[in-house]
Amino acid sequence: MANPILTNLDNGVFTITFNRPDKKNAISNEMYEMMTAGLQEAAGEKQARVVLFNANGDDFTSGNDLKDFAAVNRGELALDALPVVKFIESMLAFEKPVVAAVKGLAVGIGTTMLFHCDAVIGGASASFHLPFAQLGLVPEFACSQLLPAAAGKVRATHILMLGEPFGCDEAVRMGMVSRPCADEDVDKEAIKVSRQIAAMPPATMREVKRLINPPAFKQQLVETVRRESGVFARSLQSEEHREALSAFFEKRRPDFSRFE
Ligand code: COA
Repeated sequence: MANPILTNLDNGVFTITFNRPDKKNAISNEMYEMMTAGLQEAAGEKQARVVLFNANGDDFTSGNDLKDFAAVNRGELALDALPVVKFIESMLAFEKPVVAAVKGLAVGIGTTMLFHCDAVIGGASASFHLPFAQLGLVPEFACSQLLPAAAGKVRATHILMLGEPFGCDEAVRMGMVSRPCADEDVDKEAIKVSRQIAAMPPATMREVKRLINPPAFKQQLVETVRRESGVFARSLQSEEHREALSAFFEKRRPDFSRFE
């Protein structure tokens, strides 16, 4: 089986590639572990000046692998044991610049992780989708605060409560995509921007990133993630989430009418 995460260091750019296109690059536990290991490797490698997240196939990612959420719902795993938690912590602590190249679907963490990147190249086909509530789940990765701040509180209701997808133009207006372009240019453009960053003075890059994300702001993010995680852990075990998972795997619409 192909490696679901590929890493590569070239010209100062440490690339982490989602490589599971048959599952729309859904991110499994194993993949989060590899992504965290990639960040750790990039942090310790002097030659790695910038990390670039990109994807093989038409989509960035369809978000967390729902099979892994189902294991938590069945009580086989605790949220704390999920490698996604370590990945989120590693992203928040990562000191070097991070770039993302997004085409097609960016679902769940595929959108929320972009708030923690330093440059995001978005293709015209990019579609951002936060279907947490439809899944009986709640926002994660601090997007319960970052999205209302970026989009406005009432627009955030449509996105976070009703799960309405939004496109690249809106993502640019929100400040979530820094450079929109045609799909066929996304990878080229992302490498260009990453190489520009890699050619800059590295200590200065880290200082600028630290000033844009001062300790008080980072602490706020950590606290928001902690607050969200408490609710997320409960909702992963809920009957509402069970119904949403069954509906997904049975390829039907969920029916929440029996819940109060
Ligand atoms: N977890 C596990 N498997 C997933 C997945 C996910 N997040 N997203 C897609 N897949 C799988 C599908 O089960 C399907 O597998 P199969 O070929 O074995 O049946 C395959 O990837 C292709 O997906 P499919 O649903 O057929 O593609 P689509 O174009 O009709 O729909 C999505 C794409 C992303 C809209 C749809 O797959 C979806 O809603 N996925 C779940 C997204 C989600 O809720 N993510 C979690 C956010 S927290």
